[in-house]
Amino acid sequence: MSTSNDLLLRTARGEQVERPPVWLMRQAGRILPQYRAIRNRLSGFKELVETPELAAEVTIQPVDELGVDAAIIFSDILVIPEAMGLPYEMVEKRGPLFPKVIKSAADIQKLRQGGSAAAELGYVYDAVRETRKQLDGRVPLIGFAGAPWTLLAYMVEGSGSKTFSKAKRFLYSEEKLAHELLSKITSTLIAYLKEKVNAGAQLVQVFDSWAGILSPAQYRKFALPYIREIVASIDEVPVTVFSKGAWFVLEDIGQLDCQVVGLDWNTPPELARQWVGPEKVLQGNLDPCQLYAAPEEVAAAATRMLDAFGRRHIANLGHGVYPDTPLDGVKAFVKAVQAYRYK
Ligand code: CP3
Repeated sequence: MSTSNDLLLRTARGEQVERPPVWLMRQAGRILPQYRAIRNRLSGFKELVETPELAAEVTIQPVDELGVDAAIIFSDILVIPEAMGLPYEMVEKRGPLFPKVIKSAADIQKLRQGGSAAAELGYVYDAVRETRKQLDGRVPLIGFAGAPWTLLAYMVEGSGSKTFSKAKRFLYSEEKLAHELLSKITSTLIAYLKEKVNAGAQLVQVFDSWAGILSPAQYRKFALPYIREIVASIDEVPVTVFSKGAWFVLEDIGQLDCQVVGLDWNTPPELARQWVGPEKVLQGNLDPCQLYAAPEEVAAAATRMLDAFGRRHIANLGHGVYPDTPLDGVKAFVKAVQAYRYK
């Protein structure tokens, strides 16, 4: 099956392209009335994630409505802890909650890992296959997973948090257990991403959403080595590493065997290029709140951002789009990028 708009893949492979591709993190979700309509008739978020036909439908909605240059499979990073033996709940208006959390060596001992954990996630691979079929080559399909540290953070903390101080405490006080847990998560992620690629994901993105709360030393000890192992194990498709808030280790991230580095909106493009080096493709990084501005201002800000990045760039926001973002702002962003041409 050939892909008629393969701009994302050509860019990620480092080919010379006419303009940057554009997509948005969290593009499939509450910004779209079509998504809210489906979501409102279901029992909850998990039903949507676990029903391949519905997951495929909402994955494709932003391609139809916004005209973005890529689709990202509708799922969540928290399916991995669940597959390992820690089920999650998605509590309306509050976010994720884990009734059971990791506290001891025995808790870690009980977890499934690697291929046997990844085998629990057949509904994700089915959703990827179904989406590829329905997309019929219109745009590439991105697969994703959470990074080991970010998943440990939820598995120890049990919910979202401003500080994740229980999870950070675990790193400082239970170093050996932390490494055991990170190893089990990593072996699961490798098996999972390989299955996702086999099912049809054409690029994979690793989200380290809580990288920015670690100190540089902690990031190098507990986050980077495991990400390195994951990216080294995926050679079938391009890999994006998005370590949110981790500007302080961008030189290390620049050394990873990945093709694309995601950037949050606090990171100046010029500095990121200096730190990451000339080879890798950079992805990002408009402030998601910029989309609340008037459409002309959104377009002007997008163009300034594209000028600052230059070539080897995938246009995106610096984090997921917020649910109350006006569609006019989102569309102005996509349109401005698609009208842009490199000089
Ligand atoms: O990007 C996409 O369009 C694909 C779908 C996607 C979702 N979650 C759907 C979702 C992706 C890539 C994720 C990743 C994810 N999930 C991350 C990493 C990215 C990031 O934001 O840093 C994290 C940390 C999670 C965990 C998670 N899932 C949280 C904290 C929440 C609650 C917050 C919220 O927005 O309500 C979720 C729920 C979730 N995942 C929703 C969606 C569309 C909202 C649930 C709903 O429809 O009620």
